[in-house]
Amino acid sequence: MKTPLQLLDGFKRHFGTAASIYRAPGRVNLIGEHTDYNDGFVLPAAIEFYCWVAAAPRRDRKLVIHSENFNETVEAGLDSLTPLGKKHWANYPLGVAWALGQKGESLTGANIYIVGEVPLGAGLSSSAAVEVAVGFALFNHSGHAVDRAELAQLCQKAENEFVGARVGIMDQFVSCYGRASHALLLDCRSLEHKFVRLPPDLQLVICNTMVRHELASGEYNVRRAECEEGVRSLRIFLPEIRALRDVTLSQLEAHRPNLSPKVFARCRHVISENARVKSSVDAFHRGDCKALGPLLQDSHRSLRDDYEVSCRELDLMVEIAIAQRGLIGARMTGGGFGGCTINLVESAAVSDFTRKVAAEYSSQTGLTPEIYVSPASEGAQQMALEENKPAR
Ligand code: GLA
Repeated sequence: MKTPLQLLDGFKRHFGTAASIYRAPGRVNLIGEHTDYNDGFVLPAAIEFYCWVAAAPRRDRKLVIHSENFNETVEAGLDSLTPLGKKHWANYPLGVAWALGQKGESLTGANIYIVGEVPLGAGLSSSAAVEVAVGFALFNHSGHAVDRAELAQLCQKAENEFVGARVGIMDQFVSCYGRASHALLLDCRSLEHKFVRLPPDLQLVICNTMVRHELASGEYNVRRAECEEGVRSLRIFLPEIRALRDVTLSQLEAHRPNLSPKVFARCRHVISENARVKSSVDAFHRGDCKALGPLLQDSHRSLRDDYEVSCRELDLMVEIAIAQRGLIGARMTGGGFGGCTINLVESAAVSDFTRKVAAEYSSQTGLTPEIYVSPASEGAQQMALEENKPAR
């Protein structure tokens, strides 16, 4: 993990001046998967893996962005921002500047030095972390107080329209709003949110399968389109609905003959998952951790069978976890087709759990998984340099 002082050194070596430091976290989603773009509910937590940004304004209208991870520097004019090649890392920071410009923010040029700690391509939102950290810096340079809800929406716009991935709002929102020791219940329609305290005797254990299937981004957009098709078909009979969020399971059942089996299954996942988010929040509030296990397991099954976004390695990782002592619940987390599982584990059992899961997964797949134990963390912040802690 970098310290702000190391980051300042890196910036100074590269750009020769002092800078301000910002950081924004990645996230893990406890439950509520593929519900955000259906106006539904999600329950993510920010994690203690950050994207760090050192930034200083320039006098001209240029952005000069250096990525330490990719060891590459990119230059672009603020008045002519266009995406670089597909999947280029710089599209995320450039996209955020573009979205701020579209909104009419008067941006100044900036030198930006980026160091990402969120594992790349693991489904832990390394891209949202970059967007939010850079957006925070650019907002600050423009002299405006940072409005976090607006920042999250601008980062989503950058990813949707500049990068070209039709993601929902969950990742950017929790990267902006995360709170230590809490998960965040977000209503993705109204953006109303509440913090849900996580029990101190449970830990979030994130198991990385180390696989990421190439079809992930294409299939994500296909799932979105299938949900939209479901809404279009159901609206003929239920004109008041705007999104799957507005449909009950019994209404869906009643209209089963009007939907293809695939679209029916996709809708059933989203509608049942929204209900599971609410039940999970109730369980946290009641302190009834035992009730969380079946909810997480049902979520995984629904993602595997109805939404078809799991894969062999994720299923195996969950199966291995379920056999361990101290496991409260396990499921895939994030968009799917690889990446990570989230495991709620009793604190006292965590070290045994990680050791046994890693050994079993390796012996069955030949892959060495990475396992991260992370407390729920704070959202994006500017760092105060002298004391090495948040400035605001
Ligand atoms: C990705 C997207 C999110 C969300 C999840 C699935 O992480 O960025 O908006 O849709 O997949 O829950």
